[in-house]
Amino acid sequence: MGQGVLTTGFARVQGELYCEDVPLERIARHVGTPAYVYSASTIRDRYERMDQMLAPVPHRIHYTLKANSSAGILELVRGLGAGADVVSGGELHRARRAGFAPQDIIFGGVGKTRNELAEALDAGILLINAESEAEIRDIDSLARERGIVAPVSIRVNPEITLDSPHEYIKTGGRGHKFGIPHDEALNVALAAAELPNVELVGIDMHIGSQLTRIDPYREGAERLASTIAALRDHGVSSLRYLDLGGGLGVRYDSEQPPDLARFAELVLPVVQATGLELIMEPGRFLVGNAAVLLASVLYRKRSGGKNYVVADAGMTELLRPSHYGAFHRIQSVQQQPQHAIVDVVGPVCESGDFLALDRELEDVQPGDLLAVCDVGAYGYAMASNYNSRLRPAEVLVDGDQFAVITAREQYDDLMRLEIAEPEWTRGL
Ligand code: LLP
Repeated sequence: MGQGVLTTGFARVQGELYCEDVPLERIARHVGTPAYVYSASTIRDRYERMDQMLAPVPHRIHYTLKANSSAGILELVRGLGAGADVVSGGELHRARRAGFAPQDIIFGGVGKTRNELAEALDAGILLINAESEAEIRDIDSLARERGIVAPVSIRVNPEITLDSPHEYIKTGGRGHKFGIPHDEALNVALAAAELPNVELVGIDMHIGSQLTRIDPYREGAERLASTIAALRDHGVSSLRYLDLGGGLGVRYDSEQPPDLARFAELVLPVVQATGLELIMEPGRFLVGNAAVLLASVLYRKRSGGKNYVVADAGMTELLRPSHYGAFHRIQSVQQQPQHAIVDVVGPVCESGDFLALDRELEDVQPGDLLAVCDVGAYGYAMASNYNSRLRPAEVLVDGDQFAVITAREQYDDLMRLEIAEPEWTRGL
């Protein structure tokens, strides 16, 4: 199975940048800037590719909400047949509001509170990915109080060295806070299988994000398969799912995106041999290439021999460049003949507030529109109100139509939770 060309849904037509059949300029006029603009067909394309790639084995695709949890995006992926992967009570709430059936939701994360675990059990979700023996015991006692048996999967840290582009997004190496170390997993799983109010239904891993190589998945899956075999040798027969997490990378610059055909070839036979149903938790792969951040140029200036483009979006709208040193292509929405080397910076009062450094870019002028590319994953989801900035609007494009799926924040939203006349309580 070939991977084919990964379309992005964004293209130039006579020098003007479009999202599907809609000129980005038209959207900027309608909704203003900054705004996130998503291509529905790109998300559909990625989902279908992944679904086809996994077709040789029974599988479930659980979209990871943390990549982008806006209702409009959730409804789209749910409509494609995806389940949800949540990491907090807030995400569980969002998933249910977006119409995911409880049996299509899994709940992971290294620090779930008892309240969050209780909410998950009360909702009746498919399974909880547990990350420590203490958590499994908490789940057991919460399930006992409710007179139920809780479906639990164990997140194993397979301790694999990885090629993630940034330390912060590696999760499956030795000494990371995530999961249960590989050499302890069997004992923890056996202990879990003994608990009366827990049913051990799965084994899970998530080794990192923006991975471009497939071999670590194979290596990790083999380690999990050996734990599964050992559990069966000990008479455990309740396992139903093998969850290989998310992490498949996308192209931001010149990376070679992961070869899905190679995933099928290398990893699926390991899954098949376990006889378990495969769960995948993709985030970035489904939505990463599916959006641009539209911003306006406010000013051009020079300082210390540097050329600056000051935009109306920065680290508050897109944190990835300043937080991870991440690269995002930037294009002028109207093609321009002249180019310049510039820093593209935002309005926030921090020197680390930039979208690109020393970048060759079209020689844009105040009023021009910029498209910051491939921002569908961990873009809007990581936006903040720092400097009391309003979070941007989100727009979904489908063919020749577009709709605002998240309104731009308003000043009153900023102060909604602040109490004008606080009620004082005596501290003694
Ligand atoms: N499953 C688990 C348990 C995870 O922790 C994550 C992401 C995923 C699935 C989805 O991974 P993906 O398919 O999206 O790579 N904010 C960072 C990325 C953090 C990823 C955290 N975990 C960034 O902007 O690059």
